[in-house]
Amino acid sequence: MSKGAEVSTSNDGFVDVAYTTERGAMVHGRIEDALDDPLLSEITGKVNLIVTSPPFPLVRKKRYGNENGEAYLKWIESLAQPLADLLTPDGSIVIEIGNAWEAGIPVMSTLPLEALFAFKRAAGLNLCQHVICHNPARLPSPAAWVNLARSRLKDSFTHVWWLSKTEHPKADNRKVLNAYSKDMRQLLKKQSYNAGVRPSGHVISETGFLKDHGGSIGPNVLDLTGEHYPEALLKFTGTKWDAKYRSYCKDNDLPAHPARMQSSLSAFFIQFLTDEDDLVFDPFGGSNTTGSVAEELKRRWVCVEAEKSYIEGSRGRFPSTDVPDSDI
Ligand SMILES: C[S@@+](CC[C@H](N)C(=O)[O-])C[C@H]1O[C@@H](n2cnc3c(N)ncnc32)[C@H](O)[C@@H]1O
Repeated sequence: MSKGAEVSTSNDGFVDVAYTTERGAMVHGRIEDALDDPLLSEITGKVNLIVTSPPFPLVRKKRYGNENGEAYLKWIESLAQPLADLLTPDGSIVIEIGNAWEAGIPVMSTLPLEALFAFKRAAGLNLCQHVICHNPARLPSPAAWVNLARSRLKDSFTHVWWLSKTEHPKADNRKVLNAYSKDMRQLLKKQSYNAGVRPSGHVISETGFLKDHGGSIGPNVLDLTGEHYPEALLKFTGTKWDAKYRSYCKDNDLPAHPARMQSSLSAFFIQFLTDEDDLVFDPFGGSNTTGSVAEELKRRWVCVEAEKSYIEGSRGRFPSTDVPDSDI
């Protein structure tokens, strides 16, 4: 795993607002310190959506024991309730966790799944849905087993776990309808359909498929290449959204974040689970993909990040950022 995905263990307890924008604030500090800080008590019970990709520990070879894994689980568990307390009663937590492999052997680590269970259990959350985030364009990995030994398949998806306090969090799939396929667009134009009983027993009416709903209900496998992506969110697909950020980092000699979330993923859940002016939070902000997408979609946002250099680079995602009076 890249450095950007590791847990930050520096323990100086420092928490401060690094910058603000029209709709948001970037907080510098470790999330465990920030959650104890008066800065975040201001937003307790007010966050409509937490969307994040947490850092992940390097997985040690089995013969060295799994201390790292155990410590990680305890850490994740300790964050669950304080993060859930930030949410409104109908708020959601969306966590993206990739697949992980044991070091040196072609065996998958179960730590991402254990982390989910530990987090969910510790705050008594409901699992609303498991979404697979498919990105067929990903480079082959883990390279040792996929490219060299040729004994494993290419890892091409991440898990997105959508959790909530209530069984009925705010959500509206009409806000993230997929663009209709070419066939469906033709059908809507032609206004005739092969009605009748299908071998499956489904009865298809004369008009059932002929009403234009503005798009089709998306599946729980998100295709991040942008094919059929909701039209309103197309600007977040591909590498366009990150281009300005990457050149800002280059020009200012700052490290581009090595483990950024796909902006289309963040955009999808912000659009699906929140309304304009709602508050979005990311405890592991990194390059502030979440904050920049939230700002563009007219949501308020607060993000926390431990590494100062990533925060400095994330300024490049906004037309301008202010040095705050230290309020959020
Ligand atoms: C997977 S990255 C998140 C990337 C981010 N979603 C983006 O699009 O840039 C995880 C981030 O968590 C940060 N981090 C690690 N430990 C942390 C902690 N205790 N508190 C806050 N941030 C932490 C890392 O520095 C890293 O930037």
